[in-house]
Amino acid sequence: MDNRLRGKIASEAIRQRIKKDVELIVGHGDRPPHLSAILVGNDGASKSYVNAKEKACEEVGFLSTIIRLPENTSQNELIEHITKINENDKIDGLIVQLPLPSHIDENMINSKISPNKDVDGFHDVNMGRLAKGNAFINPATPYGILLLLEHYNLSVEGKHVVVLGRSNIVGRPLSILLSENHAFGNATVTLCHSRTKNLKEWCQKADVLVAAIGKPYFVTADMVKEGAVVIDVGTTRIEADNERGWKLAGDVNYTEVKEKASAITPVPGGVGPMTITGLLSNTLLVRKSRLEQGNSA
Ligand code: GUN
Repeated sequence: MDNRLRGKIASEAIRQRIKKDVELIVGHGDRPPHLSAILVGNDGASKSYVNAKEKACEEVGFLSTIIRLPENTSQNELIEHITKINENDKIDGLIVQLPLPSHIDENMINSKISPNKDVDGFHDVNMGRLAKGNAFINPATPYGILLLLEHYNLSVEGKHVVVLGRSNIVGRPLSILLSENHAFGNATVTLCHSRTKNLKEWCQKADVLVAAIGKPYFVTADMVKEGAVVIDVGTTRIEADNERGWKLAGDVNYTEVKEKASAITPVPGGVGPMTITGLLSNTLLVRKSRLEQGNSA
């Protein structure tokens, strides 16, 4: 039985719809959505994520501007780049790829991105709107997970969702989103973290288990209820005997858990592509909203 939630396939379908929307915008004589990404330093995973985002933009007809800065870029230099993009009417969305080098304060940098262009949804204003059930932009990975549930018509209404990990990028915003009152929300959510007692017992109670802790193969079959839906957000690079010398490892022991789960995301090809699809959807949303406000740049 193929019980995979295939983010790659769901993404292709959603990106086709995004592409059609872009064609409509361009057909009206307007500029297509334009995403800018800033990458600081040489982290291999970050470089490949940014390359994937650039390629995805091209495929759906977006414009993209990638700014690649050296590892020793100062905080002030980075802020200058952000300010220029904030003020550039021809750019709709801006992301700064994380993690940043340790001499740069990530939270401070996120606060410098205009909330109206913050297509990662990390700015305090956007996190605050999300927490109040009034989000303009949903953080890309949680939004991608919602889009994946929607694609497979998997309602979480009234279900017990257990989220492992309270990061600002995934666990915390996802736990809020899934509990809110909308078509793919209304779940009862338990947020577990490194200090949770009886973690295994909490996991065993989950109708939907989301793992977002960055610990390869942490979730084993004995932690999963028969028939649960399992969403694996982990993408840790581990050493492997292949040409590249590494492979991506999820937080779930896929081989054993897939036998118990009714549906499960593989790594790679599960949540990963949905994150980029969430980002593209957010950028399109910002572009449409600016067009509605009469922004013709
Ligand atoms: N690093 C890991 N995930 C993300 C993300 O969703 N956005 C950004 N900007 N950096 C990340």
